Amino acid sequence: MIPLFRVYMNPEVDEALLRVIHSGWIGQGEKVKEFESLLSEKFYNKYCLALSAGTHGLHLALRMLGVGKGDNVVTTALTCTATSWPILMQGADIRWADVKRSDLNIDFVSMRSKINEKTKAVIVVHWGGYPCDMEEIYTICSEREIPVIEDAAHAFGSTYRESIIGDCTYSDFTMMSFQAIKHLNCLDGGALFCRYEDHYDRGKLLRWYGIDREGSRVDLRCEEDIKEFGYKYHLNDVCATIGISNIKNIGSNLKVTKDNAKFYMDNLKGVSGIELIQTEQDRQSAYWLFTIYVEDRTGFARKMGEKGIMVSRVHERNDKHSCVKEFKTDLPVLDEVIHKMICIPVGFWVTNENRQYIVDSIKEGW
Ligand SMILES: Cc1ncc(COP(=O)(O)O)c(C=O)c1O
Repeated sequence: MIPLFRVYMNPEVDEALLRVIHSGWIGQGEKVKEFESLLSEKFYNKYCLALSAGTHGLHLALRMLGVGKGDNVVTTALTCTATSWPILMQGADIRWADVKRSDLNIDFVSMRSKINEKTKAVIVVHWGGYPCDMEEIYTICSEREIPVIEDAAHAFGSTYRESIIGDCTYSDFTMMSFQAIKHLNCLDGGALFCRYEDHYDRGKLLRWYGIDREGSRVDLRCEEDIKEFGYKYHLNDVCATIGISNIKNIGSNLKVTKDNAKFYMDNLKGVSGIELIQTEQDRQSAYWLFTIYVEDRTGFARKMGEKGIMVSRVHERNDKHSCVKEFKTDLPVLDEVIHKMICIPVGFWVTNENRQYIVDSIKEGW
């Protein structure tokens, strides 16, 4: 079976891991600091908080923005539940906006229509790694003084105009996920990039109970007054060590992935029963997913299964779940595309022979 996802692990990691697990310090320490510096360097953003999950990054951002009961957050329904559930964790309402047919990202016109006086934040998701219309989104939100959070769980290495996703040029926060099957994994973890220093300083406290880990201590910080309660969302040195090893090969893995995507773009164009997602010149996807529209998706999936090619929709639309039925609304474009979309293997493990085989199998029809 050609898998849709594969866990990347740098073979070099073994030695470094053994060293850290026997070092006497496995919690948040020097390795986390080193991992954060590498991320800061890569994304030109010095305000990087390494966390135990990307989901925690979204939750921290909403907490820092003061989102709470009676407020709402506008977002897309086409995403992992991890995008939406932090809104519920803060007791706020979800207002779903529709997606664009051309790229499956949030439609900024629909987004604008969903914003009202109770909207406290907008969360956008770069579907499969393809960047949203960030300049339009940020302009609309800035005019209304509404902060923007980017869920960039799929978008490690994606670029938009003159920026790299993660530098917060067009947002207040950008979250990344380093969960097992993401472009960069650190076993499990994530990061929250902040645009502003005060968010970063506050986030450092909130990720660890509200306690200042950097200040001087007399008795294991027993003397410290906690001014604001926080969570246990910090990354540990063991996970950071894996992240530090894996990030060394991220460039070559991304290159193979983007090259595979280009191959599909060139070779699936015009194939009967297939429609490619459009791409713009001003942005580059990291292609965590390569999504296409297909006619008769059930037949397509059956045929690919018979050929040993794993395909999937990957995420169910969030508004389908009964726990959020109160927020259900009309999303005509999503209603249409949800029945056609499917993802095919594209990542670093897909060889030239694999991708040719996938294209040939699709061209046979289903
Ligand atoms: C779009 C999206 N947002 C958020 C997350 C959550 O990230 P994490 O698993 O690191 O909490 C994921 C996937 O895991 C995701 O696909």
